[in-house]
Amino acid sequence: MRTHSQLLLYFMLSTTVALALSLSSVTDKHALLSLKEKLTNGIPDALPSWNESLHFCEWEGVTCGRRHMRVSVLHLENQNWGGTLGPSLGNLTFLRKLKLSNIDLHGEIPKEVGLLKRLQVLDLSKNKFHGKIPFELTNCTNLQEIILLYNQLTGNVPSWFGSMTQLNKLLLGANNLIPLTLGSLNKLKRIRVDNNNFGSGGSHDLNFLSSLTNCTKLEQLILDGNGFGGVLPYYVGNLSTYLSVLSMAKNQIYGVIPESLGQLINLTEFDMMRNFLEGKIPNSIGKLKNLGRLVLQQNSLSGNITTIGNLTTLFELYLHTNNFEGSIPITLRHCTQLQTFGISTNNLSGDIPDHLFGYLENLINLDLSNNSLTGPLPLGFGNLKHLSLLYLYENKLSGEIPSDLGTCLSLTELILERNFFHGSIPWFLGSLRSLEVLDISNNSFSSTIPLELENLVYLNTLDLSFNNLYGEVPTRGVFSNVSAINSLTGNKNLCGGIPQLKLPPCLKVPAKKHKRTPKEKLILISVIGGVVISVIAFTIVHFLTRKPKRLSSSPSLINGSLRVTYGELHEATNGFSSSNLVGTGSFGSVYKGSLLYFEKPIAVKVLNLETRGAAKSFMVECNALGKMKHRNLVKILTCCSSVDYNGEDFKAIVFEFMPSGNLENLLHGNEDHESRNLNLNFTQRLDIALDVAHALDYLHNDTEQVVVHCDVKPSNVLLDDDGVTHLGDFGVARFLHGATEYSSKNQVISSTIKGTIGYIPPEYGSGGMVSPQGDIYSYGIVLLEMLTGKRPTDNMFYENLSLHKFCKMRIPEGILDVVDSCLLMSFAEDQTQVMENNIKECLVMFAKIGIACSEEFPTQRMLTKDVIVKLLEIKRKLSS
Ligand SMILES: *[C@@H]1O[C@H](CO)[C@@H](O)[C@H](O)[C@H]1NC(C)=O
Ligand SMILES: *[C@@H]1O[C@H](CO)[C@@H](O)[C@H](O)[C@H]1NC(C)=O
Ligand SMILES: *[C@@H]1O[C@H](CO)[C@@H](O)[C@H](O)[C@H]1NC(C)=O
Ligand SMILES: *[C@@H]1O[C@H](CO)[C@@H](O)[C@H](O)[C@H]1NC(C)=O
Ligand SMILES: *[C@@H]1O[C@H](CO)[C@@H](O)[C@H](O)[C@H]1NC(C)=O
Ligand SMILES: *[C@@H]1O[C@H](CO)[C@@H](O)[C@H](O)[C@H]1NC(C)=O
Ligand SMILES: *[C@@H]1O[C@H](CO)[C@@H](O)[C@H](O)[C@H]1NC(C)=O
Ligand SMILES: *[C@@H]1O[C@H](CO)[C@@H](O)[C@H](O)[C@H]1NC(C)=O
Ligand SMILES: *[C@@H]1O[C@H](CO)[C@@H](O)[C@H](O)[C@H]1NC(C)=O
Ligand SMILES: *[C@@H]1O[C@H](CO)[C@@H](O)[C@H](O)[C@H]1NC(C)=O
Repeated sequence: MRTHSQLLLYFMLSTTVALALSLSSVTDKHALLSLKEKLTNGIPDALPSWNESLHFCEWEGVTCGRRHMRVSVLHLENQNWGGTLGPSLGNLTFLRKLKLSNIDLHGEIPKEVGLLKRLQVLDLSKNKFHGKIPFELTNCTNLQEIILLYNQLTGNVPSWFGSMTQLNKLLLGANNLIPLTLGSLNKLKRIRVDNNNFGSGGSHDLNFLSSLTNCTKLEQLILDGNGFGGVLPYYVGNLSTYLSVLSMAKNQIYGVIPESLGQLINLTEFDMMRNFLEGKIPNSIGKLKNLGRLVLQQNSLSGNITTIGNLTTLFELYLHTNNFEGSIPITLRHCTQLQTFGISTNNLSGDIPDHLFGYLENLINLDLSNNSLTGPLPLGFGNLKHLSLLYLYENKLSGEIPSDLGTCLSLTELILERNFFHGSIPWFLGSLRSLEVLDISNNSFSSTIPLELENLVYLNTLDLSFNNLYGEVPTRGVFSNVSAINSLTGNKNLCGGIPQLKLPPCLKVPAKKHKRTPKEKLILISVIGGVVISVIAFTIVHFLTRKPKRLSSSPSLINGSLRVTYGELHEATNGFSSSNLVGTGSFGSVYKGSLLYFEKPIAVKVLNLETRGAAKSFMVECNALGKMKHRNLVKILTCCSSVDYNGEDFKAIVFEFMPSGNLENLLHGNEDHESRNLNLNFTQRLDIALDVAHALDYLHNDTEQVVVHCDVKPSNVLLDDDGVTHLGDFGVARFLHGATEYSSKNQVISSTIKGTIGYIPPEYGSGGMVSPQGDIYSYGIVLLEMLTGKRPTDNMFYENLSLHKFCKMRIPEGILDVVDSCLLMSFAEDQTQVMENNIKECLVMFAKIGIACSEEFPTQRMLTKDVIVKLLEIKRKLSS
């Protein structure tokens, strides 16, 4: 009897449970279907997988819990549906993650969201939700992340966020919220409420910061662009000691920076750009031993900047457009990590301390323009091997240009306009091979124009106006392009040049012998007069219409380096669309794109952070290689470390886009078997080989630390529009400390090196040391590939026959058997026997270099210096 009733009870219970289970699943299905109707705005072919033939747990974007088969995740993104979020959401009671980003939703966030007690992640970013953040959300006490970036939400940032004890990420940027009262958000590590432009600028103060002092785990507080007014309260120093980023740029905060700032000892970034701060930089700032980025530009700060010298970890310092005075302190020499230092448009005076800048070996951008600095340009600049921009315009500097400036080989822009420099234009400026902009106008230089300036192949803006230059204007290089010569006017005695300059011809010596008749003199005078008048008129028109062009030509300038946000990159690449995808490299995908305010196309390498080592690769490529500048290395424009619209970490590196593709495609055609490019003739192949050799020579011999690229191969050899070759993709590069010798102790064991099959040197496979000679091996293989048109992994190469052996066996007699048929075709048919022999000889020499570089034993391989010499020899021989 007892068992019987037990059985009955069991039966009843289990049916109830089953019934309840199936009922609640039915609820989820109904909820999803009515949710879909509203989400997709009734568009019939949206979400085709949400149909009867599939269980709802298999519908696109739906994930169910395995045990109870209820919806636990709903994740849909990047659509143009334009719908709303319906109330049936509240019936998905097992939901843990709701991610509906960028699907063009409008309307309000339904209050039924408060029924989702289990919800941990709520991401509705990049939609058009308006109205308030629903109060009912307080019931979702398990929430850990709330991401509502890029909507049109209004009202206060609710104080009850403070009662949500699990919440650690609150991203509310780019709405119309009034961020007045942030409760005590105990668990929060990152608060980002930026760019909520709530109109009544300056009427809200920062007193709510006191409530954040209970937020003891806070690491990032980003409140840029909100129109906050009031002063920066002294209890800003009571914020969490974990605080690493404090950013309140573009508000209307006034008053002084409180001394208490010095208590935030973990601060790495302090950004108060574009506010109304005044007074001195507090002395206590010297306690911030981790500060890397200090941005105080466009305020009204005053006093001297002596305390900056205590910030030895600074790498970016922006102090433009304030009222700083006094001289440039010698204490700055302690800031050896500085890469960017800008203090344009202040009231600095005095001489630039001797040798100071020689200590700052990492400097890339230095902008001291528009102050009242006096004295000569001190020695020490020659030490700055990475210096790219040097702006000294609008000061009272005098003297001659010191010769050690001629060793700043990375300089791309040198602007000395409006000073009192005198002497001659030094010829050594012609050795600054990377120079793009040279402006020495409005000084007192008196000399001829050195012919060496013709050698500057990248120079596209040259302004020599208003000096005392005389003599013949050169005609080649930059001087052949009338639009690149910004101006030569205001120089009394220039002559010659290309005809478009309309300068008088230079009087040749024989002309002196000929005595002019009075009539001839009259004609000459009137001709010269006419020329002078037209030059003056031209100049006036030119000046009136002159745009401030220097900002547009370079990305990394005055208001800081090119800084791009995730949003901008997203826009630039069409939402990282597959049509913009140009390749996948080590650790990520590369997209082509274009930024609104940067004229050249860009390549964006997005790191796949789930790949092991990707984050490290980002560090390597960004931090270290950002500093290296060489004409044959791909230029890194900037790096972006941010969060994407889903609040996930996002890291990308932005490069100059190389429009002519890579050597791999040029040699072997595209993957889609397009006809391969037959135009790559021997001279072009030689130039490519030379450029890569120069790049390797720089990496191996001319940098502070020896850099081993570790992945030299044709697809990493990129070509720009001007036929210059650039070595790219430093994702696996290694840095060696100290000696460059193969046997040095400090080297990295190669077992962790990935490299690429076919190009990896044999010693890496057997646990040898990473060394420059490893790169040489890969380079040698690339040379042989360029010669033969065959990949080292070609089917014809097997155990005992490698590309190296194949070539070695056949030279010199069989050279024509190994050479790429496309290369042979590029030679003209009607060669004489002598010319043909000459070409053959050159091909053999080329093959020999490739073979010598890819010798099995590292010590037997050639050195880059010798490679360059040999290649140049071939070039000369070929053209003779
Ligand atoms: C339901 O969706 C699946 C997946 O999209 C599809 O393969 C199937 O054809 C659809 N069935 C119907 C009846 O539309
Ligand atoms: C939620 O589910 C219940 C039971 O299935 C149903 O009566 C109710 O209408 C649903 N609510 C919404 C908003 O769809
Ligand atoms: C929160 O949940 C409780 C019951 O769990 C309910 O009584 C209350 O109305 C809910 N509050 C809101 C704002 O939804
Ligand atoms: C900070 O926390 C303490 C106790 O934990 C509490 O008494 C105080 O009111 C809190 N202050 C603010 C501003 O929330
Ligand atoms: C800030 O901390 C100091 C002690 O460091 C304390 O005296 C002061 O009351 C704190 N201020 C606030 C607003 O918490
Ligand atoms: C600074 O931050 C680090 C790591 O974020 C932490 O270990 C350290 O305790 C912090 N220092 C202080 C004083 O809070
Ligand atoms: C700044 O550095 C100077 C010496 O260079 C030192 O005397 C002073 O104590 C430092 N200040 C701080 C706040 O560390
Ligand atoms: C810089 O200013 C401080 C006071 O703000 C003063 O004590 C110091 O002497 C000044 N240093 C120089 C070099 O003028
Ligand atoms: C130079 O500074 C003055 C004020 O000191 C400012 O008015 C002017 O715009 C600045 N010029 C440039 C080119 O920044
Ligand atoms: C700049 O400093 C000089 C003294 O060095 C002073 O006479 C002048 O008023 C200052 N100019 C401004 C705009 O502060």
